[in-house]
Amino acid sequence: MRIAVYPGSFDPIHNGHLDIIQRCRPIFDQVVVAVLRNDEKRPLFSVRSRLELIAELLADYDDCRVEAFSGLLVDFVSEVEATVVVRGLRAVSDFEYEVQMALMNRRLNEQVETVFMAAAEEYSYVSSRLVKDVFFLGGDLKGVVPDPVLKRLAAYRERETG
Ligand code: PNS
Repeated sequence: MRIAVYPGSFDPIHNGHLDIIQRCRPIFDQVVVAVLRNDEKRPLFSVRSRLELIAELLADYDDCRVEAFSGLLVDFVSEVEATVVVRGLRAVSDFEYEVQMALMNRRLNEQVETVFMAAAEEYSYVSSRLVKDVFFLGGDLKGVVPDPVLKRLAAYRERETG
């Protein structure tokens, strides 16, 4: 059984992330989307909301599931009996940080291999940070994030503005 872990903050998940998940599905038997527990970083969405959203988005795929993790990524990878970490690469600027992480993870556990996947061109500029910037400045995110995320963003705005 080939199990891949696709880790990240996913605050929020966007169409670039979903594209990478879809690209993983024909290659691996199971894809575990792993959400870092980082609520102390004052995220837009709580880990619980992110897990709910991602579970909703993956509901039709038996080969995909979502879990939260804390501590070392390589420990989580072993826990779920995976051997591969998948990371999306958008631009050359991602490369340096990603290779540093991959090499550190290999040092921590040499059984864990990192696989990089090129993001779809149409989402190659999309990041959760930009999504948040555009959201807080009132811009339109249709086509950038999936509809359930748009709905949650609208609900967030509603709550904040009363
Ligand atoms: O989507 P992000 O925020 O770029 O994801 C970063 C993530 C979650 C993959 C990374 O921060 C991570 O793996 N954190 C877990 C802690 C860890 O294992 N650190 C050492 C590896 S370099």
